[in-house]
Amino acid sequence: MDLLVEEGSVFESDMPALIVGVFEDRWDDAGQKGLLVRIGTPLERAHASGEFAGEFKQTLQLRPQGLETSCLLLVGLGKFSECTLERLREAAAVATRELLGCRISRLATDMFILGPQSEPVARRAQAVAEGAMLAGYRFDRYRTEKRDKLPPGLARLVCRVEGSADREAVEQGVQFAQAVCRGVFLARDLVNEPGNVKSPLYLAERAAALTHHAQLTCEVIGEQELSRQGFGALLGVARGSSREPCLIVLEYRGGAEDERPVALIGKGVMFDAGGISLKPAEKMDEMKMDMAGAAAVLGTFEAAASAQLPVNLVGVIPAVENMPSGTAMRPGDVLTSLSGRTIEVVNTDAEGRLILADALTYCARYQPRAMIDLATLTGACIIALGHHAAAVLGSDAQLVQRLQAAGRSSGEKVWEMPLWDVYAAQLKSEIADLKNIGGRPAGTITAAAFLQKFAEGQSWAHVDIAGTAWEDSGKPLASKGATGFGVRLLMAYLRGECELH
Ligand code: BES
Ligand code: MN
Ligand code: ZN
Repeated sequence: MDLLVEEGSVFESDMPALIVGVFEDRWDDAGQKGLLVRIGTPLERAHASGEFAGEFKQTLQLRPQGLETSCLLLVGLGKFSECTLERLREAAAVATRELLGCRISRLATDMFILGPQSEPVARRAQAVAEGAMLAGYRFDRYRTEKRDKLPPGLARLVCRVEGSADREAVEQGVQFAQAVCRGVFLARDLVNEPGNVKSPLYLAERAAALTHHAQLTCEVIGEQELSRQGFGALLGVARGSSREPCLIVLEYRGGAEDERPVALIGKGVMFDAGGISLKPAEKMDEMKMDMAGAAAVLGTFEAAASAQLPVNLVGVIPAVENMPSGTAMRPGDVLTSLSGRTIEVVNTDAEGRLILADALTYCARYQPRAMIDLATLTGACIIALGHHAAAVLGSDAQLVQRLQAAGRSSGEKVWEMPLWDVYAAQLKSEIADLKNIGGRPAGTITAAAFLQKFAEGQSWAHVDIAGTAWEDSGKPLASKGATGFGVRLLMAYLRGECELH
């Protein structure tokens, strides 16, 4: 979708469609009253009869007479005091969805949504642009009949500003949103891609393609080299698959030469059948999404490079497939990890923590100032938080707090769970240094406690995205399938880091 910023009153718009956000409790304010006066009877009637009050996500389509535009879509923002950036994003998404269902000629849009005055103009513009773009995403690669496919150039979102002071801020916000959405779309595409297509080396190729950005490099470590270096935990998982595993290492240098990087680690299980501890058939197809952490890392690299964020990044992605076969690891096997620690594999379906253990150990050699891993790690996380928030756990309280703040501004919510020492006791093994499962109680926490052993001495946080990476009901910002969760969160976090340093 093209995005333009134009100056001038929203009422001068000659775009075929116009979206305007209104607050439920601001009908007496100059701006909204002006709208009533300008549009006249049809709006006054809809408002007076209670048909359209401006409740959050409520919409009203009008064919106004006094305006150049042929379709006016009003979208409710709810109460003024309750309006957050996420509400703006969702309202913009709802409105865009509605217009997408209309005829092509109407798809170009003017959008002028004000939003919470406590947030800077740039952030508000960013939220609106993100909502509009994210709502239009579809994964149609394998459909011979495409859905509401827009001819390129026809979908156009124009943000109108009334004065040049805001113009720069709006442009900035919109540009940031475009970079973020490119990353989100890459992440969604990768997660939606079916398992027969996406092998570990396929992911490596897609990662290598990111090096068209000048400041980005990509190195792929193959099976032989992993074996030589002693990635025993990662290779243990990979043994059941005929596909070669790899470790993808990305670097983005946008910051000062001597600045320590932020490290992003993403679980890349291209398909999780469970291994010999085979998963039940129901919904096993969804386990192609078990590389959503890896996809979020790649998406964030795409977004950060597109936005030219002044920060240094390292990305580490262990990519494998977890399959049952005659060569697969068995329950009870003992693996020697890259760190030298031995692991008793009690359940081969707890594979994410195994590959992440080696990735975390490897990552430390970059002396990162912070390490953040994203992983669809535990079903228990879905039981605890549902599909509305990711879990965050970490060894560095400040890092966790910054991620929570990023969650609030990006709309990708994260909720902290405790990582007290007592949980680690559940991982004690008779035969090895630790075992890979801690029993049913506190499954998300014991998985994090396992990772913590391999992140020793580092400023580290873990984000469990098992419940948020995949959407099966369809929301305004993401249709069914991959959500791209993590890209918006990490971009908000990294922007905060750039402002601090
Ligand atoms: N990839 C799964 C976790 C998962 C489940 C993600 C559902 C998304 C949706 C992970 O590898 C797994 O199988 N975890 C097990 C761990 C258990 C064996 C300790 C789980 O959560 O059941
Ligand atoms: Mn598993
Ligand atoms: Zn898994």
